[in-house]
Amino acid sequence: MARKNRAARAPKSRSNTKRANTMWGGRYKLGPAEIMEKINASIGFDRRLYAQDITGSIAHCDMLVAQGILTAKDGSAIKRGLAKVREEIESGRFKFSTKLEDIHMNVEARLAELIGPAAGRLHTARSRNDQVALDVRLWVRDAIDRLEPMLADLQAALIERAEEYAATIMPGFTHLQTAQPITFGHHLLAYVEMFGRDRGRLADCRARLNESPLGAAALAGSPHPIDPRKTAKALGFDRPMANSLDAVSDRDYVVEFIAATSLTAVHLSRLAEEIVIWCSAPFRFIALSDAFTTGSSIMPQKRNPDAAELTRAKTGRILGSFVAICTILKGLPLTYQKDMQEDKEPLFDAADSLELGVAAMAGMIRDLKANPQRMRAVASADYSVATDLADWLVRKVGLPFRQAHHVTGTLVGIAADKGVDLDKLSLAEMQAVEPNIDRSVYGVLTVEASVAARKSLGGTSPANVARATKEARSRFLGRASKSAKGRGR
Ligand code: ARG
Repeated sequence: MARKNRAARAPKSRSNTKRANTMWGGRYKLGPAEIMEKINASIGFDRRLYAQDITGSIAHCDMLVAQGILTAKDGSAIKRGLAKVREEIESGRFKFSTKLEDIHMNVEARLAELIGPAAGRLHTARSRNDQVALDVRLWVRDAIDRLEPMLADLQAALIERAEEYAATIMPGFTHLQTAQPITFGHHLLAYVEMFGRDRGRLADCRARLNESPLGAAALAGSPHPIDPRKTAKALGFDRPMANSLDAVSDRDYVVEFIAATSLTAVHLSRLAEEIVIWCSAPFRFIALSDAFTTGSSIMPQKRNPDAAELTRAKTGRILGSFVAICTILKGLPLTYQKDMQEDKEPLFDAADSLELGVAAMAGMIRDLKANPQRMRAVASADYSVATDLADWLVRKVGLPFRQAHHVTGTLVGIAADKGVDLDKLSLAEMQAVEPNIDRSVYGVLTVEASVAARKSLGGTSPANVARATKEARSRFLGRASKSAKGRGR
């Protein structure tokens, strides 16, 4: 029964009439089944590696010539051909072929059409295994070099707004319950710190990935007199990788990059969530302009913070990419396994999603307009200065903090029963609870006094925030100028 089924299905899933792939046509008589071609091909997504692939091939070619493995004549024909291929791809004239599987074979096949048999010498002392490892490494390095200044620009946007709102009072929350008054600038600077750490993680990833896998060939190295140091140097790597097996099987840099993007995305998502909350009618802390909201097709009054919502949602995709890459790698024996071809889509998707999110966030931060009256009103409500009263009882009356906490709690209870703020209790009412309270207590019961008093290192006072914005500029943007968008840290 089973045999009969298989026999019946077999002709459908084979296309024996196709000619074998010319790359391995020596051993192969027939071409792949249609479905084999479909599952095997990566050109649909790895064409994004074309620039890195050609750059790597040029460096490899130069090294082969320098080592006398390739003639200068073949070398220059190959380089001319590769430049032409690059131009064809960039002008959109290149015809990508699924039959040629991936970007490496697409480029090489076109090179052969352009320059003839010399093209076949480029792959001397190289395998697609070290070639793809190189291309992806270069791609991740380029992605980091794109992302790094984008994150710096997001920090610049946050710092600009923190300067503007250094003294703007808002409620600080814990448990999303009003806790203590803070300044909006201080809140924005918290994210500057997070994105600073994110940049550090990307820089760490870059430093660790910056070794060249070229020369490992298929897995074991090469019998040709190659010089991997030359290709490493030409491609801006610090050194060649020490172990050829590791060189072709390592994808740590993909994992590290996606891990770094995941955490950055988590930070973006938290900020996006706050923007969504702050924009909502019950809060009205900020407003986004027409440029960063969308309307509703049915409710004319709506202004939806879609960019923030989508930034929040893209975090899900990026975290999905992290799970995907770890799961793909976790069961793989050394060295190269075709599973690794599946590293690219999660990688590209994580990078693309994060770039969009970072740019959209920088746009929203520059766009938003705070509503200081509303923020102050909410910050003043719900006994947000209760801690200031307790601290005053410690400093001025000499009560142990626990007792001061108790006294304050009693006073908050009395005020709540009367439906008034703490500063609306009379001195007599306060003295009935703690006889040593005097008139000067009223000096600490405003939100302005509360934030101004929090001058401890890292605290929320406007004076601190003004200083912290300057420090943040020099720590993260390299210089103190306002327009700094540099890459320094
Ligand atoms: N397209 C492949 C990948 O992305 C290239 C390496 C193929 N190597 C091989 N031995 N089949 O992983």
